[in-house]
Order: sequence, then C-alpha cells, then structure tokens
Amino acid sequence: MVVQMDEIKNNYDLGLFGDTLKRIVLKKYPHRLTDFIDSFSSNQVKCKTWLVSELLNVLKEKSQIKCNKITLLGSWYGIVLVPLLIDNVKGIESIELIDMDADALSIGRKFLGKEYNGVSLSYTELDINFTDFTNRYSNIVINTSCEHMIPMDSVEFQNDKDVLYILQSNDMFSIREHVNCVNDNEEFTNQSGLKRLYYHGKKRLVGQDKEKYWRFMIVGRRDE
Ligand SMILES: C[S@@+](CC[C@H](N)C(=O)[O-])C[C@H]1O[C@@H](n2cnc3c(N)ncnc32)[C@H](O)[C@@H]1O
Repeated sequence: MVVQMDEIKNNYDLGLFGDTLKRIVLKKYPHRLTDFIDSFSSNQVKCKTWLVSELLNVLKEKSQIKCNKITLLGSWYGIVLVPLLIDNVKGIESIELIDMDADALSIGRKFLGKEYNGVSLSYTELDINFTDFTNRYSNIVINTSCEHMIPMDSVEFQNDKDVLYILQSNDMFSIREHVNCVNDNEEFTNQSGLKRLYYHGKKRLVGQDKEKYWRFMIVGRRDE
C-alpha cells in the first residue's frame, strides 16, 4: 500500500506556534522574520510532506530499516520536518538537528524544545563541509539542503553502509547560496555516493518570484 501525501498528519499546535512566533521571533530575532516565514512556504510544506510520505513507503517495504536515531543535516529551523517525522513515523527515539546557522538552531529549539511528543531533540552547530562524521552513528540521515553544500559523498557516518539517506536538491542555479545544484536525479545520485536507490522522484515547483524549478529527491543506501 502506498502512503499518499494527504494522509500525512501535521499536528503542530498552531496556538503554541503563534505565541512562540510573537515571543521569540518577533521580539528577539526580528531580522530573521522573512527567512523564518520562508521556512513555512507552501513549497516547504509540500516537499517535507513528500519526504515523509516516501519514507513511510520505503519503511513499509523494508521493515529491517531502523528509525531510532535520525540526523537532519542543514536542518534550518526544523519546524516543518521534525513534527511531521515524529507524528507519522513510528520508533523514532531521537533527532539531531545540525546546521551552521546558530540563530536558526536557537529559534528551532524555542519552538520544538528538548523533547517533542516523547522524542528527544538535540541541536548542533557545525559546518558540514568541514566536519568528519565517521565517529557519528545514525539510522537515517536527511539532508534537504544539498544544493547549499559540497556533495554528500563527502559525508560518511560510522555505520555508513546501514544508513538510510534521504536527500533533496534542486536546479535553482541562479541563487547565490546554491553552490551545488543538480540538473537531474542521475547527477544527484552520482554525487551522493548512494549505490542502492529505494526511491527517486522530482516535483515541478514555482518559486516566490514565479520562476519554475525542479526539486529532486533520492532515498537509498551505500551498500551494493
Ligand atoms: C535555506 S535553508 C534550507 C533550504 C532547503 N532547500 C530546504 O528546503 O530545507 C539552508 C540551510 O542549510 C544550512 N547550510 C548551508 N550550508 C551549510 C553547511 N556547510 N553546514 C551546515 N549547514 C549549512 C544553512 O545554514 C541553512 O539553514
């Protein structure tokens, strides 16, 4: 049975969201308001929901895959993806959000806390381009910011062969911070180091400046 995107629950408390928005972002980080609002755009919600529904489809087929520890690389605020994961995927014990943007992590922490619906959350400030991950363990590694950093084949976890990688990128080459866009999923797969793909797909999206672009997603592992 295939999980449809509209079957995904989105339970984050809107009242808590509004209160925290006013108390934290508006009062303490007003300069981050536009960036913060961008993290909730309809495209953001669509692509994070897409990710969770395809993860659920993979987990249905591959029951041996564990979800205990999830790492989010380039997590940004994490406020769309973290509740979607926790409210829809069974068995998650902890999620680590990793980003080089200390403010994004601090704001994310104010919204989500150290624990969300029984799952422990940690926030780590790191530049992924300069980090050795080989002493870090994770069951699932998610990076929806691949277009912002060096190719993912440069990232290797302690238990790398067992890690389920879920990666998103895009072809918005015109944006300055997008240092590593791709043209298609073949190029994306080649630079990811993934050898066994469980899913690949793409979505045609329209950006806020009406520019059309593709968002790509691949899900897989590095063992042959
Ligand atoms: C604009 S946001 C997220 C965009 C992405 N398309 C998405 O939908 O999730 C990009 C995030 O990647 C982070 N980032 C970019 N390069 C990074 C690096 N080398 N190490 C850690 N975080 C990085 C930024 O700080 C930012 O929070």
